[in-house]
Amino acid sequence: MDITEIWPPYGVTITAGDLELKVAREGDIGELVDLVLDGIHAPEFMPFLFPWTDAPREEIPGNYVQYLARIVAGFSPNSFSLPFVVRRHGEALGIQGLEASSNFAITHTIETGSWLARRFHGQGIGTRMRQAVCAFAFDVLGAAEVTSGAFLDNGPSQAVSRKVGYRPNGFRRLERRGQLAQEQLLVLNEPDLVRGEPIRVTGADPLLAQLGLTTDAGTAANDG
Ligand SMILES: CC(C)(COP(=O)(O)OP(=O)(O)OC[C@H]1O[C@@H](n2cnc3c(N)ncnc32)[C@H](O)[C@@H]1OP(=O)(O)O)[C@@H](O)C(=O)NCCC(=O)NCCS
Repeated sequence: MDITEIWPPYGVTITAGDLELKVAREGDIGELVDLVLDGIHAPEFMPFLFPWTDAPREEIPGNYVQYLARIVAGFSPNSFSLPFVVRRHGEALGIQGLEASSNFAITHTIETGSWLARRFHGQGIGTRMRQAVCAFAFDVLGAAEVTSGAFLDNGPSQAVSRKVGYRPNGFRRLERRGQLAQEQLLVLNEPDLVRGEPIRVTGADPLLAQLGLTTDAGTAANDG
């Protein structure tokens, strides 16, 4: 059997224009680690709630292996993560993730999180990949809402969320590098999604079955 038949998340492909999104697997780790080590944010700014990029440089490759292994090991309908590797013409650019933490089949709530290698920032890719996974979440997974969050001083992330149609949904007071930082919580409902290029999705039906979801939602966008 092919691994994509064995493990449904690996069988899903989302295409949006020249971007292709597929769930990260072992064979992607080398490229992803190269992107991370090359830099995905200014060293003086921490955009992530869990400051994984602050780990010593030599620990980051092994940490990434463990991170992806934990995602596979912990995958269940109740709690799952789909870290989509975003590629353009075959080149890995970053990750656009979708994560559900409370039985998605009941809550229909899923969260986005993303990063791009710094050299790909500011070209509209962050917006396009977010539009693509939000369309996937609503049209294929049948999400009722997509949530996100970003530190108030993360201008680009806030801008992407605003452009894609998320609305503010409160704040959280968090600790970041020993200091207080406010996180802006965000929520998006399907009518507010500012859609980008049409998405094409293949291979989603086995994932929907694995997650205990019906295949009724959004079959128009899902041809397999
Ligand atoms: C967040 C991220 C994925 C956005 O990707 P991107 O491809 O650069 O985003 P886009 O080019 O589509 O859009 C960025 C928008 O931010 C705006 N922007 C850039 N710097 C900004 C700033 N300092 N303040 C406010 N807006 C800013 C840009 O003008 C653009 O908006 P526009 O298209 O209306 O002009 C990318 O910046 C990234 O990887 N950052 C590091 C990791 C991170 O912060 N992840 C999110 C954690 S919550």
